[in-house]
Amino acid sequence: MSTSDDKTRMTYGGYLQLEALLSLQDGPPGHDPPPSNDEMHFIVVHQSFELWFKLILRELKEARDLLHTEFVDEANIPNVVHHIERVTEIFRLLADQWKVMETLSPQDFLAFRDRLGTSSGFESWQMRELEVLLGLQHEQRVGGMDPLAHMERLHGEGKVPDAALRDLRATAAAPSLNDVLMAWLARTPIQGSTPGRPGDGDVVNAYAERHLATMSEHIEGVIDHMVAIGHGDEASIRPRLEAGVESARDFLFDDGEVNRARAGLLFIESYRELPLLSWPRRLIDSMVELEASMVLFRSHHARMVERTIGRRMGTGGSSGVDYLDATTRYRVFVDLWAVRTLLVKRSALPDCLEPEYYGFSAKTS
Ligand code: HEM
Repeated sequence: MSTSDDKTRMTYGGYLQLEALLSLQDGPPGHDPPPSNDEMHFIVVHQSFELWFKLILRELKEARDLLHTEFVDEANIPNVVHHIERVTEIFRLLADQWKVMETLSPQDFLAFRDRLGTSSGFESWQMRELEVLLGLQHEQRVGGMDPLAHMERLHGEGKVPDAALRDLRATAAAPSLNDVLMAWLARTPIQGSTPGRPGDGDVVNAYAERHLATMSEHIEGVIDHMVAIGHGDEASIRPRLEAGVESARDFLFDDGEVNRARAGLLFIESYRELPLLSWPRRLIDSMVELEASMVLFRSHHARMVERTIGRRMGTGGSSGVDYLDATTRYRVFVDLWAVRTLLVKRSALPDCLEPEYYGFSAKTS
């Protein structure tokens, strides 16, 4: 005899809504004949990616919202790192998931490719939203593509649901993860000084100038070393290294004013050993890891596509592999990558002026 408890008992299938989920792999309504084994594999792999994209969006929004405040509680930085690290692991998994797709031979794919018509991952609104959420700029995209305009057009043709467009619009209107990260970096205490404090501008300016001077001093040793090991003569090496210092100046000072976010980033990267900077450093590392995992994800997709369809056009009308390879050059966290070029070995840097502020009771040397 069944009891009311039996009737209301939560089940595995009920909780996961498996019946609904597992009824969605037969292709769109009227798909006739039903998908072959290979086509079902194609559908399942795509759907799995889209499910992961859904979670990625959720995690990245949590991270963005935690950082998007005037004052970020130190205790929240590990939470941001946690969300970012989860997304990185998902992208790593997805980069490997292309291997399942690669079990589809070119001929097997051609057998049902025409059934896709012009549909393409290029129309994945979740992928576009996650790029916008991260902060990828239109100018960086192939052909300067504006994803919102593209999705508005598809929505006008009835090919993108209202909710997807609404979400994309909201994400495009809000600050991106890169925006909130840079705003947070702009508040980094530099040599113990915080924004708004009297004289902060001078402290940050002096810090940036000192770093550039250290870079200039450092290149003298590099020149001697390169000449000594036969990598060229001073006349050819010096201009290249000096151009590097000039680029560093352009990075730190835009329009003649020191850029506080970039100076803060350089400070955190340079004085990584200071206790107060350990979580900020981990946060930056986690963002770099995230982007690195995404680049690999894009790159593995391109290799899988090259293997499956060679150099032919994509169903979405792009040049195919060449287009996908171009997307592997996208970088969202441009400053996080750029600052690496400016770093000088720790032993060549002057000590931090206010080690006590950062949790050391005495100067480091
Ligand atoms: C045999 C399998 C696949 C082939 C041959 C393929 C091919 C392509 C090609 C050629 C493009 C460039 C746009 C176009 O012209 O269509 C593209 C874009 C894309 N594909 Fe795939 N793909 C495959 C599987 C997948 C899977 C399983 C996913 C997972 C969701 C996926 C997601 C995407 C995304 C998100 C884009 C847009 C990339 C961007 O614009 O940055 N693809 N694909």
